[in-house]
Amino acid sequence: MNDNKLNKIAITLSEPPRGILAADESTNTITKRFDGIDVDSSFENRRKYRELLFKTPDLNKFISGVILFDETIRQSTSEGIPFAEFLKNLGISVGIKVDTGALQLSPGSPEKITEGLDGLDKRLEEYKKLGAIFTKWRAIIDINEENSIPSDYAIDLNCFNLARYARIVQNHGLVPIVEPEVIMDGNHNIHSCYDITSKTQKSLFQHLKTHSVDLSGILLKPNMVISGKNCSEQASVDEVASLTVKCLKENVPSQVPGIVFLSGGQSNELATQHLNQMNKSSEIFSWNLSFSYGRALQQPALNAWQGEEKNIRKSQEALYKRSNLNSSATLGKYSIDLENLQT
Ligand code: G3H
Repeated sequence: MNDNKLNKIAITLSEPPRGILAADESTNTITKRFDGIDVDSSFENRRKYRELLFKTPDLNKFISGVILFDETIRQSTSEGIPFAEFLKNLGISVGIKVDTGALQLSPGSPEKITEGLDGLDKRLEEYKKLGAIFTKWRAIIDINEENSIPSDYAIDLNCFNLARYARIVQNHGLVPIVEPEVIMDGNHNIHSCYDITSKTQKSLFQHLKTHSVDLSGILLKPNMVISGKNCSEQASVDEVASLTVKCLKENVPSQVPGIVFLSGGQSNELATQHLNQMNKSSEIFSWNLSFSYGRALQQPALNAWQGEEKNIRKSQEALYKRSNLNSSATLGKYSIDLENLQT
């Protein structure tokens, strides 16, 4: 099934000093982001915004791949070059989000199940023709105040779908990014996050095994082990880094070539600091540790843009800066002082 091609792609995507730009917001999500800067979420504004991101000078020094949304992989630059072709010419691999979103797990349940297996085979063939070489599927695991969720059922079912997705994607010769995200909203402490993240990763790797997924041809995109957003006690950078690495070492087989974190609502600086601390630590691990950030790469660029042509350069500088700093973090060479030095 996998002749090493998938392994090479997965290594290239996650190998320091580069990481992945997640620009695969669904229309609903990008509309929320545009609402935040009071920009109309029209087809053309979404195209213009993605164009400015992808045309950021020297982006390819720090970014190995970009994850696109279905609409975006069909869009082109203002000169008429399809985005997928434009990125490929820069040496940036094209990825595509292939899940169709998360639905209520069952009537009355606060939990969600990510869907998208129906018709996946057919969609993958089309995405391949459009230039994609890797894919992404995100499962959402929530923790509530009473610790009554997540249920084992929600974890198990989401991990089953992730594994089935990964197998189908590999059957088509593409690299699957498997993203089980334990959501940081809530007031749970870092230890609850650790327990649930560990349980989820255990379930995921069991299901990947059952589905005979070739682990050397996937990337794992996990949350970091972190305090809930509203927890009164916020764990230190050292604690986040050490518990995250501990959890990964206990659960992620060494055949997996790379782990590319999501940012999940962390501040830009903390997402960078945490990644840096893990790469700087004396811990020995076999996987590449890099990033596949959405908000923590894009938020400053979005704020600088404000939907205005005249702000494009400033916006690109903001994306360049965050990409550069996260690139340094993949090498353990970031320092908070660099935040003020970079333009
Ligand atoms: O699925 C989530 C995105 O790919 C990553 O987004 O870094 O904003 O959590 P985030």
